[in-house]
Amino acid sequence: MYFKKVMESVQYLKNKINKIPDIAIILGSGLGNFAEYIEDRVIIPYSEIPNFPKSTAKGHKGNLICGQLENRYIAVFQGRFHLYEGYSINDVVIGIRTIGLLGVNKLIVTNAAGGISSKLMPGDLMIINDHINLSNENPAIGKDALDFGERFFDMTYAYDQELIEKARIIYNKNNIEYKEGVYAFLKGPSFETPAEIRMLKTLGADAVGMSTVPEVIAARQLKMRVLGISCITNMAAGILDQILTDKEVFEIAKKSEGIFTKLLKEIIDII
Ligand code: HPA
Repeated sequence: MYFKKVMESVQYLKNKINKIPDIAIILGSGLGNFAEYIEDRVIIPYSEIPNFPKSTAKGHKGNLICGQLENRYIAVFQGRFHLYEGYSINDVVIGIRTIGLLGVNKLIVTNAAGGISSKLMPGDLMIINDHINLSNENPAIGKDALDFGERFFDMTYAYDQELIEKARIIYNKNNIEYKEGVYAFLKGPSFETPAEIRMLKTLGADAVGMSTVPEVIAARQLKMRVLGISCITNMAAGILDQILTDKEVFEIAKKSEGIFTKLLKEIIDII
């Protein structure tokens, strides 16, 4: 039944666009304007795609935009669904499953995250080299998920080594200090406590956020190749002697938008 719903969404997109995109990109908080660089674009509001939930998170516009970025035909998710909005895990990953079944093989996921590692600073763009799922949720659970791939699938190379290597080349070319690390996923929506951040540090996390991991798991079940980039918008709770606000998160995400956009454009061009 769920599979039929996803196929309805796939069919809807097939009728809207006449090419299978080479790459799909999920834009995180503050990155929504990236879509403006896309030429010959077809804007498809999530509200028009059968079975898509409505995106309610602040700073998330809720459109799928397909079009040309230089020599690539890309599909851009302007906004995503989060568990903290109250959606089921199947709803959170419906976009990935739709685009995966449409035939898209590469996925770039972006997000805003809090920095835990002392090597990170607000404004850094951290390549995700691994993740820790602390949500107790997984989109591959249950019978319905078997329609999207195997039940037990490898996550050793969830973040594609070759795509990471290519991204590193673009960082170097642009003289941007290359940072990579482990992204820990919690459901939120409250920010973490300082004690939770100390725990995450002990567990080996470099950054923390409230998205991305369900999408990456769903993408891997579909055998998509994934590149993940976190915009570090703040130091995580308790690292600095100050409170956290979503205002700060959006401000830093916005400030980083220019450089993030440039990087993304160049990465898309070579992957
Ligand atoms: N914690 C969780 N999610 C976040 C943070 C944070 O500090 N910053 C941006 N997203």
